[in-house]
Amino acid sequence: MKRVLFVCLGNICRSPSAEGMFRKIVRERGYEEVIEIDSAGTGDWHIGHSPDHRAQEAATRRGVDLSDLRARQVSNEDMIHYDLILVMDRRNRADVSSMSQPEYQHKIRYLLEYSEQYEELEIPDPYYGGVHGFDVVLDMIEESCERLLDSIIKS
Ligand code: 4NP
Repeated sequence: MKRVLFVCLGNICRSPSAEGMFRKIVRERGYEEVIEIDSAGTGDWHIGHSPDHRAQEAATRRGVDLSDLRARQVSNEDMIHYDLILVMDRRNRADVSSMSQPEYQHKIRYLLEYSEQYEELEIPDPYYGGVHGFDVVLDMIEESCERLLDSIIKS
């Protein structure tokens, strides 16, 4: 069993999109029995909220339904439970890192580290941008989630 947690700031845009996209890829490739997937936010503003409607619409266009997801805040227990804690940007990384014991720091990685297509490390926050931002973010998430699964299968 491999346990994967996606983390962003609000848990209403990037990390639920990654959770939904990774669930779809994992299911299509037949690994749903052996990979546990969740997402959380470092902030508490949106606890209990559904994903942003723009994120839901962009995901729906790619066959991913985010409507059942509800935002939650990342916890100290998550650092123990999950094998991989995949952050979207430097701020997420700093926040999660400050919550983690030294022995868990190695679990924290940028999701984009798994990409073979994108050189940068950060998936930008689309919250204050236009609709186009959500498709750009989903492109990044989709490709890195495919490579993430490749990496998990190989390990
Ligand atoms: P996310 O986007 O971290 O990708 O979920 C954000 C959502 C909400 C806020 C910031 C980022 N906010 O400040 O409310």
